[in-house]
Order: sequence, then C-alpha cells, then structure tokens
Amino acid sequence: MAELDSLHDDILRQIKDATTLDALEQIRVGVLGRNGQLTAHLKGLGALAPDERKARGAALNQLRDAVEGALGAAKQHHERAALDKRLAEERIDVTLPVRADNDGRIHPISQTTDELIAIFGEMDFTVAEGPHIEDDFYNFTALNIPPEHPARQEHDTFYLTPRAADGSRKVLRTHTSPVQIRTMQKQKPPIRIIVPGRTFRSDHDATHSPMFHQVEGLVIDKKVHMGHLKGCLIEFCRTFFDIDDLPVRFRPSYFPFTEPSAEVDIGCSREGGGLKIGAGADWLEILGCGMVHPKVLAAGGIDPTEYQGFAFGMGIERIAMLKYGIPDLRTFYESDLRWLKHYGFVPLDQPSLVSGAR
Ligand code: DAH
Repeated sequence: MAELDSLHDDILRQIKDATTLDALEQIRVGVLGRNGQLTAHLKGLGALAPDERKARGAALNQLRDAVEGALGAAKQHHERAALDKRLAEERIDVTLPVRADNDGRIHPISQTTDELIAIFGEMDFTVAEGPHIEDDFYNFTALNIPPEHPARQEHDTFYLTPRAADGSRKVLRTHTSPVQIRTMQKQKPPIRIIVPGRTFRSDHDATHSPMFHQVEGLVIDKKVHMGHLKGCLIEFCRTFFDIDDLPVRFRPSYFPFTEPSAEVDIGCSREGGGLKIGAGADWLEILGCGMVHPKVLAAGGIDPTEYQGFAFGMGIERIAMLKYGIPDLRTFYESDLRWLKHYGFVPLDQPSLVSGAR
C-alpha cells in the first residue's frame, strides 16, 4: 500500500510538472496505457489471494480514478491556456490601414461593369444574364433578324456544329440582345434590366477582339416612350463620365430590333491629336438604342398593343477605353501584369454614383 501511495504522489507530480498536452498524453500512456505502470499492477491482481485482491483492487481503482481526474483537469487547463495564447497572438487590428498596395488589381472590365451596375442599379434596374452559346432564334430571328437579313453577315458570327434538324446552328452570341427575349419570356412587365456579359465575333484588330463585352438595357412597361429613353441615357452618360453638362446627342439610325432607332454621341474635342470628352465641337458615338420593335415584343410573348419599351446596347471595352484613356483594345486580354498594375483598380475602391473612378 505504501508503494501505491508513493506511485500516486509520483504520478500526480508528473502531471503537475507537465507543460504541454503532448507531455500529458505521454504520462497517460505510461500509466494507463496497455503497458502502463498502473495497468501492470491491475494485471497482477489475478495472482493474489481473494482477500488481498479485494483490498488492493479497491486501492488501485481509487488510484486510477485520481490519475484520470488529474489528467482531465490538467488537459483542460492546457487547452484553455493554448486557446488564450492564440486569441492573444492572432488578434486583428481592424483599425490598421489597408495593405492593398502589393495586392492584386481589379481588371478595368470588371470595374466598369461594377460602375454600370451601380449607376443603373440606382435607377432601379436589376442584372439579368443569359448563355454564351445561344440558339439562332434568340440571337437573330426573335430580334427581327430573319435568315436572309444582311445583319447576319455583319455580325461575323462564330457558328457551332452540328446543325439541328431544322438546319439551324448554335452560335456564340454576337451581342447581349438575346437576353431581352429570354427575359420577356420568363418575366412579366414591368421589366427593367441590364445585361452585362461576354459576346463573340470573328474579328480581331486594335478596336475589335473575338471576345468582348457588352451591356444591354431593356425597359418595358405601359406608356414607356422615347422621352424615357432619352432621359435615362443622358443621365447614364453624364454619371458614367462624371461630367454634369456633358453634351449628349441622339442621331437617327437603324437596328432591326428597334423602331425608331438611334445612336448616342457624346461631345468631345480632338484638337491637338488627343481626345477630350465633354468639351469641343466633335461627337463620339458610344451606344445604340431605340424603342423595342413590336415584332420583338411579340417574339418575347408580350402584347405590343399593351406594352412599349426601349432598349440600348453598348460595348464595355469601348466605354472603359474612353473613360480611362486605354488606347488599344487588345491589351485588355494580354494578361500583362504591368498593364493591370497601371490600368487596374484597387480592390477596396468600390464604384459608386459619387465616385466611379479611383
Ligand atoms: N445589339 C447591338 C449590337 O450588338 C447593340 C444594340 C443596339 C442593342 C441598339 C440594343 C439596341 O438593345 O436597342 O450592335
């Protein structure tokens, strides 16, 4: 029994002296493990006479309970200490200035898209999306561009094979306009959407890329008229370019899916070779628009005698180039980090109506 008392003191001292969870685990294995000290004593019980066995067995069980209790308490203590240490060391000072300088940049296309969403979002537009691989019907026919229409050639379309049973092929959408139809089919008016997204044309030079971005706009309601279209787009141009008195001109034009159609120009100057937006006697075209053609409304399942609408579309690269002075469209997709560092945006610089740019 005296031997067990000294074992008890010895083990509890070890537990008290242990400074880590690992050390505690080693003690546990050394005492209570398969080849542990206490386990050996317990195994030895079988060789004793019944009387002796009973008394020693009770003492050993008591010892085991004491050891387990001490181990459990010590473990809890060390775990809590470890957590306290982590909490103290890993504290984050949210008042520190941001370390954004060495980090990534937001691509101008993403930034410009976010600005468009902020501006039109403020006018109550929501964002709609559609597939990049589009049916001939949505990309052309439903937009009043029948098979023999010359606009099909102008679009330099990427076609996918094979042909469907009716002879049509899927296309990489050549504009975001098909989402007009998709939205009309699944949403009842009033409709007020913008559609920023990728578009594709078989074209490649300093101002054309086979993959580029457009934003489409569509508003459909009862009593929508050209005045709404003009007000909305003048407001957009002035907010986007951040020039309150930016001259905006609507020039008659033609698109199969709108009637009447217009192109929108903004005032600029080209004096001295440079381009300056907002002043001067010149004009610069930035987008196409018009009142939604009755046939397009009908193709979308909307009654043209009850509803009217206006639509617009523009190239996101183009307006980004104009706003941020980026001279060559091809550079958008060269993945040159020096370019991104120069033209990109700091992630925390969120666009808003009052500060579109950095
Ligand atoms: N889809 C036209 C294009 O890619 C752009 C466009 C013009 C869209 C006029 C419109 C619109 O919605 O009304 O060239």
